[in-house]
Amino acid sequence: MGNQNKAKAPRGLMRWIDARFPATQLFQDHLSHYYAPKNFNFWYFFGSLALLVLVNQIVTGIWLTMSFSPSAEGAFDSIEYIMRDVEWGWLIRYMHTTGASAFFVVIYLHMFRGLLYGSYKAPRELVWVFGMAIYLLLMAEAFMGYLLPWGQMSYWGAQVIISLFSAIPAIGPELAQWIRGDYLISGITLNRFFALHVVALPIVILALVVLHIIALHEVGSNNPDGIDIKQKKDEAGNPRDGIPFHPYYTVKDLVGVAVFLFVFCVVVFYFPEGGGYFIETPNFEPANPLQTPDHIAPVWYFTPFYAILRAITFSIFGLEAKFLGVMCMGGAIAVMFVLPWLDRSPVRSMRYKGWISKLMLALFAASFVTLGVLGVLPSTGGRTLLAQVCTAIYFAYFLLMPIYTRLEKTKPVPERVTG
Ligand code: HEM
Repeated sequence: MGNQNKAKAPRGLMRWIDARFPATQLFQDHLSHYYAPKNFNFWYFFGSLALLVLVNQIVTGIWLTMSFSPSAEGAFDSIEYIMRDVEWGWLIRYMHTTGASAFFVVIYLHMFRGLLYGSYKAPRELVWVFGMAIYLLLMAEAFMGYLLPWGQMSYWGAQVIISLFSAIPAIGPELAQWIRGDYLISGITLNRFFALHVVALPIVILALVVLHIIALHEVGSNNPDGIDIKQKKDEAGNPRDGIPFHPYYTVKDLVGVAVFLFVFCVVVFYFPEGGGYFIETPNFEPANPLQTPDHIAPVWYFTPFYAILRAITFSIFGLEAKFLGVMCMGGAIAVMFVLPWLDRSPVRSMRYKGWISKLMLALFAASFVTLGVLGVLPSTGGRTLLAQVCTAIYFAYFLLMPIYTRLEKTKPVPERVTG
């Protein structure tokens, strides 16, 4: 550890605590003496924002739980009760529903930064893998949370997704029944989703976030140049291109927090339904197992994967289209886990990669967004074809990466960060 901003030896209460718990040591290791590259840009706001949204979800979730009734008979009415009668209930609920969408906006930007600067590459493979595990659980968390208000879309969305499991050969139907805990989606399903949504998954997500940050702090943050700042140290042993996380980045991150909260509040107070994308319109009607809504679409953050599922309209090798679709959807997420081993480029950052990587990333991002839009719309022949093209690009970006990252010419990486 360098001595550039050596803290004064703790006295009084702090010394008493330090003799029993490494409070000062932890503060120094992870904040005041944790050197982060000095060239963090816009893309580096989203890690701390993800933490903020996580806290928002947990706190508002606890307060919602106080008035929510997890039963098929009581759930929908208890949400109305929260909205109308509970003091500030409407605010707590809108903060939670907007928070769910905000979480995915923030996480998608956070992940895109990883793709842009090769943050998943050695030695940060585990940071990425823990991140992917968080992402997977976050999707499960959001899916289960969405059943709880027991509206039409809650019911039918869950119906569509759980029935996907029944497409798995041999064990499918039993597996779907095991998940539901019943022959149909019922109060039993609601009860178990509630238990998982409010207790089990949040605990695991929190634990994974801790592992994610411990892994990151073990190797140090990457940066827009993809340079290892530990290579160039000053006389005191501190990275020349690094600055202490606290106070420099704590203050910088506060600016991101202020801007984020501004946008968040505008949505919460003026557009809480997000134009039918954050809270879907059919969800203002109570679940009716006898009446399917005209058009079932998952919430926007799932739609890229939903579009991949629907793009598979053909069967191959005797495998049913629905099963192939489920495999492709699962594969689209699974392939992201192994990304650190697919990228064979000698450089990390997109700034120094060749034109093929740049083109592939642009095509991938465009396809992902297009799939997201297609997943919201009812399918037509033309849209299905477009979804098939975008699905092919999605997989090509990952599966051809070992080839194009080795083939292309990269630019020389500078010795020091360029700012
Ligand atoms: C609850 C969700 C998450 C939280 C709270 C979280 C938090 C953080 C924080 C605080 C950082 C350091 C600050 C920064 O670099 O922005 C970070 C870095 C990172 N995260 Fe996450 N993260 C989450 C999800 C994810 C996901 C889903 C992925 C990708 C699959 C991911 C991949 C990364 C990577 C690769 C880094 C290192 C970036 C670099 O050094 O350039 N994270 N995360």
